[in-house]
Amino acid sequence: MQTKFLITRAFAKQLDREDILASFRKKFLLPKIGNKTTYFCGHSLGLQPKTTQAYMQSELEDWATWAVEGHWKAKNAWLTYHQAFAKPLSILTGAYPDEVVAMNSLTANLHFMLASFYRPSGKKIKIITEAWNFPSDRFALESLVKLYGYDPKKVIIELKPAKNKFALSTEEICASIEKHKDSVALVFFNGVNYYSGQAFDMPHITQAAHRAGAFVGFDLAHAIGNISLQLHDWKVDFAVWCSYKYLNAGPGAVGGAFIHQKHGHDKSTPRMAGWWGHDQNSRFNLEGNFKPISGAAGFQVSNAPIMNMVGLKASLEIFMEAGWNQISKKRNLLFDYMVFLLESLCRNDHKSSFQFQLITSTNTNAHGSMVSIRIHKQKGKELFDILMKQGYIVDWREPDVIRFAPVPLYNSFEEVYNLVLELSKHAVIV
Ligand SMILES: Cc1ncc(COP(=O)(O)O)c(C=O)c1O
Repeated sequence: MQTKFLITRAFAKQLDREDILASFRKKFLLPKIGNKTTYFCGHSLGLQPKTTQAYMQSELEDWATWAVEGHWKAKNAWLTYHQAFAKPLSILTGAYPDEVVAMNSLTANLHFMLASFYRPSGKKIKIITEAWNFPSDRFALESLVKLYGYDPKKVIIELKPAKNKFALSTEEICASIEKHKDSVALVFFNGVNYYSGQAFDMPHITQAAHRAGAFVGFDLAHAIGNISLQLHDWKVDFAVWCSYKYLNAGPGAVGGAFIHQKHGHDKSTPRMAGWWGHDQNSRFNLEGNFKPISGAAGFQVSNAPIMNMVGLKASLEIFMEAGWNQISKKRNLLFDYMVFLLESLCRNDHKSSFQFQLITSTNTNAHGSMVSIRIHKQKGKELFDILMKQGYIVDWREPDVIRFAPVPLYNSFEEVYNLVLELSKHAVIV
């Protein structure tokens, strides 16, 4: 963590003046709920890029003008609309453009990828994953193994942090994979855990899974657009994500998937197929045999949901303009600054009603933007309500956590200062 920070408002303002991404805030619509709203929920739903509305309007106009002909004649022809996402998504995931595709939604993509990469055989039937998976992922895994006739309790191994700990160490995870090497078929983790904010060591988990002869996949809901990824070089087999969090594509916007070239270029990779994954030149012949497009695009099933993609187009343009290195640098600075302020301002021994603990790891590479604090003695919801009443949009995760995400594209250092100052009036770190 940095030690060069100061506890003054003047210093927060200085950080804002030095911030080369400061002007990007103007590219987003900041919510106005009540008198003063400060948004710290980009980990849940990213803000709307100002260009989204015009892009949406343009598609509506093209639909009105061209009707079905819009598939070829719209300004951004609908037939190939999704292809424009390959380059920016490849930059954000550390992949080749043909390894990524914007399609479906997160949980739907997870089901599709599990159909391809869970291949139980003989004794190798187990799945190693996190106990703190987002429920949707757990439901997907459980329903999958039931389809194969297995008992989820026997087949799914869930790793949990030790008592009073909030992170799983890479050593624990890799040791567990090694221990189950004769029975594990799939290793599945989050890139960043939704509750604790822990960023997992994806390259080492991938290596351990491959040493054990298992496939490995990641849920990048809280990772894409947040932390740096090198999925191709790490040799990850597959990954899935949503685009409504750090990618700012709008509620329920199109999700995405990464499929490593070693599988994507192999036409025999098993998959749940559909016509949009079929060779584009013969797709409209509507003939018999499925000929997959080479790469991740060959895993699409349905035609692209254009209205659901305009927000992603608007947002990825901003990401490309800002540049990943700048975004990543500011993310670390915002995070370190917030942790510094929590440690400095919330240490006061005043009559605080609330005691909290920082549960997000502060180790470099083990966190993204999100900071999670755990409130003791079941009073967290009250503290959450106080912050919300003061205009700070943060979020509450049962049973005891408040999450904040200072997002590099639109949050300022002074906003972080204001939030922690408010928190320090009510709560003390223990
Ligand atoms: C970590 C994680 N996985 C899965 C999901 C489910 O996403 P979807 O509803 O887009 O399928 C979410 C939703 O917030 C999530 O945070």
